[in-house]
Amino acid sequence: MSLLHSLFGHSVGKKLLMAGSGLLLLLFLAVHLMGNLQLFSGPETLNAYAHFLHSKPALVWGARLGMLLLFGVHMVTSILLTLENRAARPVPYHQEATIKATLASRTMIWSGLVVAAFLVYHLLHLTLHAAGPALTAEGGIDVYATVVAGFQVPAIAGFYLLAQILLFFHLMHAFQSAFQTLGWRHRRFTPVLEKLGLAYALVIAGGNCAIVLSVWNGFVR
Ligand code: HEM
Repeated sequence: MSLLHSLFGHSVGKKLLMAGSGLLLLLFLAVHLMGNLQLFSGPETLNAYAHFLHSKPALVWGARLGMLLLFGVHMVTSILLTLENRAARPVPYHQEATIKATLASRTMIWSGLVVAAFLVYHLLHLTLHAAGPALTAEGGIDVYATVVAGFQVPAIAGFYLLAQILLFFHLMHAFQSAFQTLGWRHRRFTPVLEKLGLAYALVIAGGNCAIVLSVWNGFVR
């Protein structure tokens, strides 16, 4: 209890929680993309993968609760830190333009909130199946057909693509920022981390866009 209190009670603690939860979410995105790329191997492969995951309820529910905790901690700490920063500096610096901060770093809270809104939509779409899933001949959920039917709708595909652009900017800055918070700030390391962050963001957002665009243009059907 006192550990939680000292972490949430101090801005350094909140920064550590934000960075730690963010790094674990980065890991989730890589694993999630690897699973999703099986769409390119066809319906049998993707559906078998989904079936395997769902046949292990302890694994699925453990991962879901863990993700919920991570997203919750990440969002609460980032919103609290943004509010604290604003309260500490109610009037913005006039020389804002001269401060070495990229657009991505200054808009992290907004790109993060749009990605969170996307996630709510995404869970309704592909986890809770708010519009009803496609079914296999045996009556189970056909994950492949559900994904393909979704991205064949231009408005849905367009929204996913827009979210990936925001996700790209969020991840690009998040990667190096998280390592810096954990103490990896060094004249030699920082430029390397920046490049790795750019590469990571390109792979994740690019991979997700490749899935959406391949369905949209009929390459995957
Ligand atoms: C084109 C990109 C994406 C595709 C095709 C995709 C596909 C899917 C599918 C099919 C599921 C349901 C899995 C199942 O129930 O068997 C799912 C769940 C999920 N996705 Fe995605 N996803 C994409 C992008 C993202 C992104 C960018 C995020 C995070 C920002 C994300 C976070 C999640 C989460 C948290 C779940 C819930 C896992 C669960 O069912 O417990 N996804 N996704």
